[in-house]
Formats: sequence, C-alpha cells, structure tokens
Amino acid sequence: MSNQIVRPARTLQGSLTLPGDKSISHRYAMLAGLAQGTSRLANFSTGADPHSTLSCMQTLGAQVDKSDSQLVSVTGTAGQWEPGNFTLDCGNSGSTMRMIAGLIASHPGTYTLIGDHSLTPRPMERIRKPLSQMGAEIHLTEGHAPITIHGRPLQAIDFTTPIPSAQVKTAILFAGLQAEGTTTIAEAIRTRDHSEHALRAFGATLTRSRTGLLEHLSIPGQQKLTAIDATVPGDLSSAAFFLCAALLFPDSNLVLDSIGLNPTRSALLDVITALGGKINILNVEEQYGELIGTIQVNRSPGPLRGIDISGALTAQLIDELPVIAAIAPYTGEGIRIRDAAELRVKESDRIALVAKNLSAMGAAFTEFEDGLDIPGNQQLHGAKIDSGSDHRIAMAFSIAALRATGETEIDGAEAAAISFPEFFTHLTSLCPC
Ligand code: S3P
Repeated sequence: MSNQIVRPARTLQGSLTLPGDKSISHRYAMLAGLAQGTSRLANFSTGADPHSTLSCMQTLGAQVDKSDSQLVSVTGTAGQWEPGNFTLDCGNSGSTMRMIAGLIASHPGTYTLIGDHSLTPRPMERIRKPLSQMGAEIHLTEGHAPITIHGRPLQAIDFTTPIPSAQVKTAILFAGLQAEGTTTIAEAIRTRDHSEHALRAFGATLTRSRTGLLEHLSIPGQQKLTAIDATVPGDLSSAAFFLCAALLFPDSNLVLDSIGLNPTRSALLDVITALGGKINILNVEEQYGELIGTIQVNRSPGPLRGIDISGALTAQLIDELPVIAAIAPYTGEGIRIRDAAELRVKESDRIALVAKNLSAMGAAFTEFEDGLDIPGNQQLHGAKIDSGSDHRIAMAFSIAALRATGETEIDGAEAAAISFPEFFTHLTSLCPC
C-alpha cells in the first residue's frame, strides 16, 4: 500500500489535457474486439480498468497492440473465436465483468469471470436475470463472482431495468446485438448512453423511443460490426476532482481540453454552477455521437452555495458523488445527497467510507442508508484517510485535503490508478502549497 501526503494549497491554476474516458474506452475496447478489422483508438484511458477489458478481449482472440503510446490498436475477432475454456480476469472493474458477460453469452465456450477482492463480492444478479431470460446459461457464486457462463444462442427479450444502471443496459444491448430477434430495453431513469453511440459508431443499428417516463431502446440481433478509428474524449469523471477543487479557491482558474461533454454525463457542470462556479465551454465538437469540448472554470465572488441531490440527478452523478461530498463542508449551505444506495455497492461502500473519512477530518454530518446530509461552513483538519482501495475515495479526499488545516495522509493512494494514474502528478502541478 502506498501513502500520499496532500498539503493545504493556496490556489488552483493551470491547464490540462486528460486521458480518455473510462466508460467509453471499455465500450470501444469490447466492440473493437468483436468487430471485423483493426480499430485505432487514440487517447485510450490510462486507467487499469479499461486495460482489464483489453486483456479480456485478448484472451478471447482479439489482437491488442499498445506499442504506440498515443494509440491502442485492436484487431477484432469478427464475432467468432474457437470455443474453449476461458478465464476472464476483470481485475477491479465492475464495468468489464457486467458488460463482457453480455458480449460473450451467445458464443460457444465456457467462460469463468473473476475479479479482485473488491469486485468479487459486488452484486451480479442484476445481469444474471436478463441474460438468463435471453437463454444464457450463467451461474453466479452466491449472487456474485466468480461467474461461469456456458455460451449458447440467445433470444431477444423486452426488459425494464429495475435499477438505473448503464452497465446492466449495456450487458443486455451487447447480448441483444448477437441474439435472435429484436431486444428492447426500457429505462425509467436515463443512464449514460455511451453504448448506444459506440454501437452506432461500429455500424450497428438501434432505435430510441419514449412512452411516458420510460425510454425504450431497441436493437435488432445478429448484427456485424466494423472497426473504427476514434479518439476517446477526456474523462469528465476524472476532471471532476479538479473542477471541484477549483471551487475551493477564490482565484482559481482551470482549463481542461478535449473533455467528454455527453449530456448523460455532464450533470456535474450544473452542480459546479449551482455551487458558485463559473464555467465556459469552448470548441465543442462531436465524434461518433459524443460531444467533446474545452472547459474553463473559476469561482464567482462570494461564498459557495449548497445543493440538494436526489432522484435522477443522483443517478447521473453517481461517480462524482464522493468528491461532491468531500467538498460539501466547505460550501456555504451544505450538500444533501439521497437515493444513492447504489453507492454502497461500488468499488467500496462509498457512503460508509465518505462518512468515515469526513469524521476523521473533523466534519459533522448525518449518514442515511441512501445518502448523507453534510452541513456547510465547516473547517476540516488534516487526517489519515482510508481509501478502502477505492480510487474515487482516494482522489475525493485528496481534494478535501487542499483546504484543510495541516497535512493529510491518503492511505492506499495507489488505488487512483484504477481510473486516473496521473492524478497526483496533476494535483501537484495545479495546486502549489
Ligand atoms: C458505468 C456505469 C456506472 C458507473 C461506473 C461506470 C459505465 O455503474 O458507476 O463507474 O461505464 O457504464 P452502474 O451501471 O452500476 O450504475
């Protein structure tokens, strides 16, 4: 375990280009591995998780070339590989495990999906149920990994997702792409739509419609994919740490180039504005359905305000909630988060770990089963932070440390590399002590 010391900072100033979005990198890696031809993926995520996906695709027979540091090339399997016994090591990555289950379930062979100590106990019934309805033979171990799949032909289903989850939606879309018939998925709360854009990018057709509150996605089966050349947009969920940090200093000025601005991911920008940040978006362009632009942020004069986060907004901010909670004590009116029970089954129980680390830094708050109430106008002090080996907890409390009194020690700081290996280097360059 490596520890990292974070000292109080005077300001946050500078400009950065960030590595590619983790969610998009996973999807491009999986679909490139399934497609015919060689996909060239520039600005692929440097995080360990999407590289777990690349290794799994390699195990299935895709050729992955990382020799050019600017580009990952994936030569796909054209949708076919020799049946065999495959062990797919998904590392720490729930996205890899859930989405790849859908991708492989119709392919002859036996697959064992394993993960690390954090991924192994995470709930997998959410993918077992729809995939079994499609005819997949999928066995969990007491509701979680290891997962065994015996590949066989799948049939289309109509499925309404009971919890908002882009990973579950994607598992069904990837299975539906290769099933017999047209699969339809309905979502009451719209989740990130990178899979929809990525599938179209690789040549698949799918349609979207709405009845009342439900969004319906329909994907005809037995479609073939063709390789693409693409640049992965910078990761807004990684940018979130520095965007929130920029709020903490009255004279901050931060410019982030080529960041993904997909509207199903960008609710954080509304939160930053609601709290008192000033955001300019420049140079917006679109690639394969994904919006990309430059974000410039600084802080409006006066105290930071507060915000209530619940319902659909909670689902849209799910990965950003730890850092939002970590800066809440420094706001003027505090932050209240509800409907966030999913946070308890992420890479760690993120509600419990946010609560533990806020306490360590001397903050008052109330913990609920599905969220936290964190009053504002609190001064935190440096402390030893327990990352719980969770990348977003390690990074969130490094941001809280910037405005604390005294130094903070992040225990298990190396977890940041799961999504953002460059995090501490960038933090040091942006925030002089
Ligand atoms: C992700 C979806 C979210 C998110 C995760 C990445 C994705 O998970 O928390 O970090 O890439 O689809 P859920 O689908 O479990 O909400």
